[in-house]
Amino acid sequence: MDVLEIKNVSKKYRTNNRINQVALKDINLTLKNNEFVGVMGTSGSGKTTLLNVASGIDKCDEGEINIWGNNICKMKKNELSLFRRNNIGMVFQDFNLLNSLTVKENIMIPLILDKKYEINQDNVVVDFANMLGIGEIMERYPYEISGGQQQRVAICRAIVNNPKIIFADEPTGNLDSRSSKKVLSYFELLHEECNASILMVTHDPFSASYCDRIVFLQDGLIVREIHKKGDKTKFFDDIINSAKF
Ligand SMILES: Nc1ncnc2c1ncn2[C@@H]1O[C@H](COP(=O)(O)OP(=O)(O)OP(=O)(O)O)[C@@H](O)[C@H]1O
Ligand SMILES: [Mg+2]
Repeated sequence: MDVLEIKNVSKKYRTNNRINQVALKDINLTLKNNEFVGVMGTSGSGKTTLLNVASGIDKCDEGEINIWGNNICKMKKNELSLFRRNNIGMVFQDFNLLNSLTVKENIMIPLILDKKYEINQDNVVVDFANMLGIGEIMERYPYEISGGQQQRVAICRAIVNNPKIIFADEPTGNLDSRSSKKVLSYFELLHEECNASILMVTHDPFSASYCDRIVFLQDGLIVREIHKKGDKTKFFDDIINSAKF
């Protein structure tokens, strides 16, 4: 069974001055088990909206979102929260960290909500944080750390629970190339060895070259799709060529 099936999904926003802003038009996209799919497109093309709708953060107007065959659009609020918590890790474009909690507490939120937290899990949290180079700032608050550090905290929080699906919105957008590589290598490991499926928005061809497949959005439509053939370097060239259109 497919991990994620986005079927004929459309979404409009209603702005304050009552203009309908179309954000997604009849989107069809399927994520197979273990797939790492990238979403690219210009600013305003609908990438964040697609991730929010696919993960159940936001509702679509038309269409269906199935995750392992469960239509999340039909779920009640509590059922959806629980489902998301058990299955999905999410890295938001604007991080969404809680300012009243320390870095460590932010990272532990999914474990605490899941009642999976035990004292010995401190090690897990610390290991993840060290891997992402934020082990030294665990007792600080989000407003006391840099944007790139906040991004790594958000990534840490999204993966600490070993989710089977990860939605990541520009997860390397604020990172230098060394930190980006660490994050991307970890995503690669998750999808190759831990059976996770990943849907990642990125504007960066280097990050995109880690994916198996890229879909290009334009004005709320999927206009192109390219598959990895060969290695990352070859795919990087294909992405650059495709992004020129
Ligand atoms: N809350 C909202 N109310 C009204 N319009 C919105 C809202 N959020 C997004 N939009 C509009 O919907 C369209 C898609 O926005 P979205 O945030 O999905 O784009 P994006 O591809 O993620 O852009 P970026 O690369 O800048 O993050 C844009 O035209 C945007 O202005
Ligand atoms: Mg966005």
